[in-house]
Amino acid sequence: IPPPPLYYSPFPSGQQQPMYPKNASWSFPSNFWWGVASAAYQVEGAAKDEGRGPSIWDVLTHRVTNFIAHNDTGDIADNHGDNASVPFLSNIARIAALGVPYYSFSISWSRVFPFGSGPVNEEALAHYDDMINTCLQYNVTPMVTLYHWDLPLVLQNTYGGWLSQSIVNDFVEYARVVFGRYGDRVQHWFTINEPIVFCGFYPLPSQYFTQTSIPAKQQPFFCGQNVLLAHAEAYRLGKSMMPNSMISFKTNGGHKIPLTNSSADAQAVQRAWDFNEGWFATPTFLTGDYAPSLKAYLSTFLTPFTAEQKRLINGTADVFAHDAYTSQFYYAPDGGIDACLANSSNPLYPACVNTTYTYSTADGGWNIGPAADPGSPWLHKATDWVPAFLRYIQDTWKPAGGIAVTEFGFAEPFEYSKTLLADIRWDPIRSQYYHDYMQGILIALSEGVNVVGCLAWSIVDNLEWSSGYTVKFGMQYVNFTTQERTYKASFFYYVDAFNQYLQK
Ligand code: NOJ
Repeated sequence: IPPPPLYYSPFPSGQQQPMYPKNASWSFPSNFWWGVASAAYQVEGAAKDEGRGPSIWDVLTHRVTNFIAHNDTGDIADNHGDNASVPFLSNIARIAALGVPYYSFSISWSRVFPFGSGPVNEEALAHYDDMINTCLQYNVTPMVTLYHWDLPLVLQNTYGGWLSQSIVNDFVEYARVVFGRYGDRVQHWFTINEPIVFCGFYPLPSQYFTQTSIPAKQQPFFCGQNVLLAHAEAYRLGKSMMPNSMISFKTNGGHKIPLTNSSADAQAVQRAWDFNEGWFATPTFLTGDYAPSLKAYLSTFLTPFTAEQKRLINGTADVFAHDAYTSQFYYAPDGGIDACLANSSNPLYPACVNTTYTYSTADGGWNIGPAADPGSPWLHKATDWVPAFLRYIQDTWKPAGGIAVTEFGFAEPFEYSKTLLADIRWDPIRSQYYHDYMQGILIALSEGVNVVGCLAWSIVDNLEWSSGYTVKFGMQYVNFTTQERTYKASFFYYVDAFNQYLQK
């Protein structure tokens, strides 16, 4: 196995990892929600059990050749969805054993509504009862996401899924059933995961799914518009059913750094914020409507929100829940920032991203920012960018309930090709990542940024969308033949941050 490329601050002779420095001004508030995360299709398996209906991801993995690495599927995954076997119980017991107090997972819409809408599958509801009750028995607080990309297939094929406003009603009915069933035991809810990604980066191959007349470049924004409406209605319903609940949606994106000091690059960064985080955050936290730069772009094809829709959307997130893995450099090319937008086949590239200093997925590593490259002139460590990033969010969107980092994590390069358990469980680069990231959050807290929680991705190795099982984000190794789990070193580094700095 080739040695992993060096991350910054490699450990002396690859052995001893740095401990958290002692710092008297650092602490996590005692009610900080820290934990681990997963998502239904990535861990559940049991794809044909308990009356589950197909989702779009069953088609993408089974029928679209090479949509996902090795044509891997979520048919079995971590067997987290199978009541007859123990993996979900052991997952919960194993995080409880390390003292992890929160577990964030998603419910599969197509388990609960095998036909997307209409008849409810009681077996599925009983399954999630079991999971939630098991969490509570182990003193683990469950946090539930309603939609983590596994859309019931029938909704895609009937009306084009998120491209149609018909989704709003179906999503709200799904939310009503789930809130009604679990609202007595679950207080923390996320409606929709990373719309920037599923609206923007997974164009569904038209030969397998119903065609739409909306031009490809406009589709993400139609999807986003329906996400905002569906979320807002579900939020208002949820608050009326569970007044003490915390409800939000999860956006995503990393810290944005201008490539040079030029004003054009600063403008590119600004527009990247507006088009990524701001796409959902500005309407929800600030105005009920898009930021001016995005609005100007959308006005050529999208019907603006009505005054009533703006009122509906504004104020529908209790915390700024955000998945942030890394940082990226943005720049404006010679033609100005509009050139990125015009030339890119992906309309979500409102500014150009410099990818020179990011790893490819070829080595199984992922989501490592420009800081990672040892030759990079900009050693931008998580201890630098995490506080800057969180502060930007606080200053810009002023979330009254604070910011939760709902996902962060790291795929260790070359882990996939390791064969010895002793090597696999030794994940120094991921450990360093957690070590630095947690320090970044502590620094932000000490500087007055209201960070209310963080959730590490992921509780276990699982199916990584386009990369299948080759890219591993787990803090526990999973032997997919025996379903046995093993803690990796990084898990202890993550937990140690709280052992050391959580206020009693
Ligand atoms: C964010 C997504 O929500 C999750 O499903 C994915 O596995 C991780 N990022 C890593 O890519």
